[in-house]
Amino acid sequence: MITTVAATPFSGQKPGTSGLRKKVRVFQQPGYAETFIQSVFDVAERGEGAALVIGGDGRFHNRAVIATAIRMAAANGYARVLVGQGGILSTPAASHVIRKYRASGGLILSASHNPGGPDEDFGIKYNIANGGPAPEAVTEAIYARTQAIDRWMIAEDGADIDLDRIGTSLIGDMIVDVIDPVADYADLMEQLFDFAAIREAVRGGLTMAFDAMHAVTGPYATEILERRLGFPTGTVHNGTPLEDFGGHHPDPNLVHARVLYDLMMSPDAPALGAASDGDGDRNLIIGKGIFITPSDSLAMLAANAHHAPAYAGGLKGIARSMPTSAAADRVAEALGIPAWETPTGWKFFGTLLDAGKATICGEESAGTGSDHVREKDGLWAVLLWLNILAATGKPVRQIAEEHWARFGRNYYARFDYENVDSAAAEAVVAALTAQLADLPGTAVGPLTVSMADSFAYTDPVDGAVSADQGLRIGFAGGSRFVVRLSGTGTQGATIRLYLERYEPLDGILDGDTLTMLTDIIDAAEKLARIAALTGRTAPDVVT
Ligand code: G6P
Ligand code: ZN
Repeated sequence: MITTVAATPFSGQKPGTSGLRKKVRVFQQPGYAETFIQSVFDVAERGEGAALVIGGDGRFHNRAVIATAIRMAAANGYARVLVGQGGILSTPAASHVIRKYRASGGLILSASHNPGGPDEDFGIKYNIANGGPAPEAVTEAIYARTQAIDRWMIAEDGADIDLDRIGTSLIGDMIVDVIDPVADYADLMEQLFDFAAIREAVRGGLTMAFDAMHAVTGPYATEILERRLGFPTGTVHNGTPLEDFGGHHPDPNLVHARVLYDLMMSPDAPALGAASDGDGDRNLIIGKGIFITPSDSLAMLAANAHHAPAYAGGLKGIARSMPTSAAADRVAEALGIPAWETPTGWKFFGTLLDAGKATICGEESAGTGSDHVREKDGLWAVLLWLNILAATGKPVRQIAEEHWARFGRNYYARFDYENVDSAAAEAVVAALTAQLADLPGTAVGPLTVSMADSFAYTDPVDGAVSADQGLRIGFAGGSRFVVRLSGTGTQGATIRLYLERYEPLDGILDGDTLTMLTDIIDAAEKLARIAALTGRTAPDVVT
């Protein structure tokens, strides 16, 4: 029995960088989640017998939306739903489950690294059959559908599905499988990496601390790091997922993972410190006494990936988002493989991975991953680092210093100005855009502008064009800054200022990052005028 509920469109159901993200209160409006999910089902490509994966990061409102989504899937003709026990699936695990069980797609309920709770954030993202985020053509079709929606459908049965019990039940003809959210993913990791070598290194004294930030990776990290790899109990910190992440931002950066950072800078630091975000796709890597920027981590992982069994045969290519530093490009050059530069958003890597043009991808926003799934993968990055540490016997600092000595160093920082008045943020972009044509050749302090443009991307596989993906101001010598507006915030606008300075092999390789970036910070202030146009004299977050 199916109920069809008449509906009128909600405004603003436009998916951003990573799905539809709003305050919980917005999602709690009657029919709000339902009309969005119905719009997904109306446009999703799916054949007879299609399966749908559903899971989320365990944040507040997860269970309510999952219960509804399962019954809506039944009413919309899906043959099978796979849902993680307790409504839990990390984003990379969901990507893997979609691929492994050949589902037509999946709904991932998460607002990633944004805080959770009744007054915080929620999100719904649709992933397609390759396991990756829906490409823009699909998200635009979903948005168009949300603006014309006039009804949604839900099965009357199914209210009694027990999300906490692994097993199979039926809603009408639709099979509901509540699955172990961890097992398939942990098995995949065991295929990719040399668990025996890591276990051996742990027995020989390799230590680490993993901060799960009370988010979804707790159960994954406990199973993989403590049970399968033999790290002692307690290696995983904050390992119990909480609906409000314990009141913190589950964002693995130097601000929100401060406790871990302080530990790693102390004399008691283990060999590796790592953290992941709300839905498990981001990672933070800190060695004893040394923070590894996400851009450097991508480059160092790519340069050393051959130590892991899955990548021993070589990489097909390396892809990075435009604001990510060019460190990975130098590795690609040395390996004789292509380096791809895409707009911000993991969805842009999907075509490259599917076409076999890239094996490893990464973003400055703490995302790294490979062709094993179609999402970035926090624990994957941690395990690849562990595999490299175990195989080489070298500490993180030595790996970093040897890398810089070989490739040069891309000093890098990102300044975030959060919750800025939207009009003021637009004004920053407009004012800088207006200068672009005149900038090349001009001197700004000691720097000379070598190029200035608004980044546009043509997908080399499907030809899709994405314009206005960020303003790039490059200087002679390989330094640059980039300005773009975040596509993941839920309040006002967030301006991101990305700063990068390249030092060649014979340059200063052990400098302090912000000191090394001083000239570029000054140039950005002169040209982008963030303080003048927004009143913000300092960033809210520096990563
Ligand atoms: C999400 C996406 C990433 C993106 C990041 C930052 O995590 O999956 O691909 O890099 O958000 O996006 P933003 O638009 O906020 O800079
Ligand atoms: Zn995330």
